[in-house]
Amino acid sequence: MPEENINKKWEPKIIAFFCNWCTYTAADLAGVSRLKYAPNVKVIRLMCSGRVDPQFILQSLASGADGVLIGGCHPGDCHYSEGNYKMLRRFRLLQRVLRSMGVEDERVRLEWISASEGEKVKTVINEMVDTIRKLGPLGLPGKISVYDKDLAELKNEIDTEIEVDIKPSGKEMVEHA
Ligand code: FES
Repeated sequence: MPEENINKKWEPKIIAFFCNWCTYTAADLAGVSRLKYAPNVKVIRLMCSGRVDPQFILQSLASGADGVLIGGCHPGDCHYSEGNYKMLRRFRLLQRVLRSMGVEDERVRLEWISASEGEKVKTVINEMVDTIRKLGPLGLPGKISVYDKDLAELKNEIDTEIEVDIKPSGKEMVEHA
């Protein structure tokens, strides 16, 4: 099937981790205010953006998500004082790891959205869906299986080389006997 046709059926899948006190409430407000945003986002509510372990983001992408959005309180407004600063530091480090894996920066986004910013939730989600639609599917599960295969081959090569190095040749064994 031509790639063009595959992409016609494909829709971006985005996982959003929203802090309970700000961004989740804003998403709720957007719903109550009947603001329309793309239905491509699955929202996971956490008590604070500081609870977002980088592993959650990697796991989402490895499980087939095309993008991850993290939403937290504005700097200085975190209900646990500095959870959002912790998230920001982890996010910067994770960006480097993702770049080295060939994942574009635009696929993982961190936004500060307060409880009253329903409009911003709508804008950010719609923007992100548009951007990812242009980038196309991430397809990390397929890439990971290729990485695993390469790694297994490399391990076999190394094991074989080590075996050759440490095995004494038959001649040496006779000489030692
Ligand atoms: S409580 Fe919202 S980011 Fe910490």
